Amino acid sequence: MTEGRAPALWALIPAAGVGRRMGAERPKQFLRLGSRSVLEHTLGIFLEHPAIRGVVLVVGSGVDSDAMELPSAGGRLFLVTGGAERADSVRNGLEFLAGRAGPEDWVLVHDAARPCLPPEDLDRLISLLQHDPVGGLLAAPSSDTLKLAGTGERVERTLDRSSVWRALTPQMFRLQALREALDAAAASGVAVTDEASAMEFAGAHPRIVEGSPMNIKITQPEDLEVAEIYLRRQQRLRNAG
Ligand code: C5P
Repeated sequence: MTEGRAPALWALIPAAGVGRRMGAERPKQFLRLGSRSVLEHTLGIFLEHPAIRGVVLVVGSGVDSDAMELPSAGGRLFLVTGGAERADSVRNGLEFLAGRAGPEDWVLVHDAARPCLPPEDLDRLISLLQHDPVGGLLAAPSSDTLKLAGTGERVERTLDRSSVWRALTPQMFRLQALREALDAAAASGVAVTDEASAMEFAGAHPRIVEGSPMNIKITQPEDLEVAEIYLRRQQRLRNAG
């Protein structure tokens, strides 16, 4: 980081998954969602955001990036090859960023498979966290009563749903702190499925920022239809506003 410069904001989009649960012939991020692919929708949210300096897109090693329909990004989009697990893909993206970003710069890690992130949630996350010592994540409260399963598909106990949150993305942390946390988790053989878990493993307490439950992760085939409805709704609200 240059002396005196405010930390920059970068987006890192892991898109190297194969999406087995979708049962489709292509990974879910390349499936159509209206007129564009899931990935194009997701990238658009960050490339159109004026505060985001650049976007690192992490793709699978077998992906022909020339054949990908990517939005024009004026040199702000960088392609990196992913790894076996989501955390490996994120680590590859962070390693790339370390060559061009400052250690205190913010990195917003966002699943490629979440194309319905409302731009106002992104704005709120940034404004609430940009002076935070740790960083944090978007999360949604649970509207259902939550059960902890024991053995034999029987309820062990009921969780206090007022203190349980569903982790969404983006998750926003400082570049160097996040790199160190993910490296430490990997070195200890701890499997982390989001960035906040790695930070927790390092002893930090990420801040929870309430986000919209519309920010779904496309996982099952029917999620595509739901995502289309949510995107149309967002468009309608934008037009009305
Ligand atoms: O598999 P899951 O739904 O948790 O994936 C979340 C995001 O992480 C997806 O955008 C997927 O493409 C990405 N991912 C990745 N590298 C992997 C596995 C998943 O970038 N090895």
